[in-house]
Amino acid sequence: QVVSPSSVQIDKAGHRHFMAKEIHEQPTVSTYALAHYVDAATGLIRSEAEAVDFAQVDRLVLVACGTGHYACAIAKYWFERIARLPVECDIASEFRYREPPLSGRDAAVFVSQSGETADTLAALRYAAPHVGHVLSVVNVAESSIARESQIVLPILAGPEIGVASTKAFTSQLVTLGALAILAARQRGAIDEDEERRLVRILSEAPRKLSEAIACAPEIEAAAITLAEARDVLYLGRGPLFPLAMEGALKLKEISYIHAEGYASGELKHGPIALVDSSVPVVVLAPRDGLFEKTISNMQEVMARGGRIVLFTDAAGAEAAAEGAARVVVMPDCDPFIAPIVYAAPAQLLAYYAAAFLGKDVDQPRNLAKSVTVE
Ligand code: G6P
Repeated sequence: QVVSPSSVQIDKAGHRHFMAKEIHEQPTVSTYALAHYVDAATGLIRSEAEAVDFAQVDRLVLVACGTGHYACAIAKYWFERIARLPVECDIASEFRYREPPLSGRDAAVFVSQSGETADTLAALRYAAPHVGHVLSVVNVAESSIARESQIVLPILAGPEIGVASTKAFTSQLVTLGALAILAARQRGAIDEDEERRLVRILSEAPRKLSEAIACAPEIEAAAITLAEARDVLYLGRGPLFPLAMEGALKLKEISYIHAEGYASGELKHGPIALVDSSVPVVVLAPRDGLFEKTISNMQEVMARGGRIVLFTDAAGAEAAAEGAARVVVMPDCDPFIAPIVYAAPAQLLAYYAAAFLGKDVDQPRNLAKSVTVE
């Protein structure tokens, strides 16, 4: 069942800001998308998207703006790795004007919390006559983007009031993660046992989000050290790279501190020139297959006097905490869901920095919740 803004009592539930409330809601809200996309009886994915035969799809085109775009950029890693499905991922304002070639063997997915973003709607209208399938991942089921899609995948996050998107992001990720598993099944990239295993891992996201949010006091302490900076760098590898960009976006949006998210491996191609003791560097490094690489990039930053705020798990902290200004120990989780679990601390870091600086967290200057004009 889709929750619409009019059917829900909207208040801050004891939090100072809607953004804080919405961050803390994620362990609960993410279960709604899971309940929708997981068949509890079989432990397999069920979805409106079963109407698409992904075995007949040659390419997935993912299009969105803002935070939705970073959800797509993370999902690209999942679709390619789990479903072996090539992905093109673009921001809607570029996609709509560069007249990209599309084919009937493409499936296009438009991701939008509001379902009303002008550029994303225009991108959908450009793609619809050319592609085989038009899907949307939306929070507002009666929105324009939903109405113009062949298949609507609801994220069921409930009304999001804070201008900076938080719970919609993690619910978009859960929905796209479920879609990647479905596509993998249909393409024969995984067998039923592997599908059940991946579904079990995805289903751990709410509990792991809750454990991550329980680190709020350490995250708040780290945020206060960021609040005095003029520039902040965020680093990550693999799916944690787009999450680094999303973390930087959150900080920019609500604290007005300049922040950039970078792929750790790109550090030496430019951003390391910025590093000195005045530039905090936030490193998102779960202990996955790329951990050692990220840590070696982190050490390059330390060697130049950069102040590190490291988010990692217990094993990662044991291996690499030395020399970091702050270490926040995240729950252990499978690398598949790490970008979902690490989203909450990235959001909280921005939230506490902005709240500490006394900024208008829910209504940041110059920003709108939904950009319905170009
Ligand atoms: C605005 C909001 C962002 C959001 C973006 C896309 O910029 O401030 O939080 O990510 O629009 O919105 P949509 O509703 O399409 O996801």
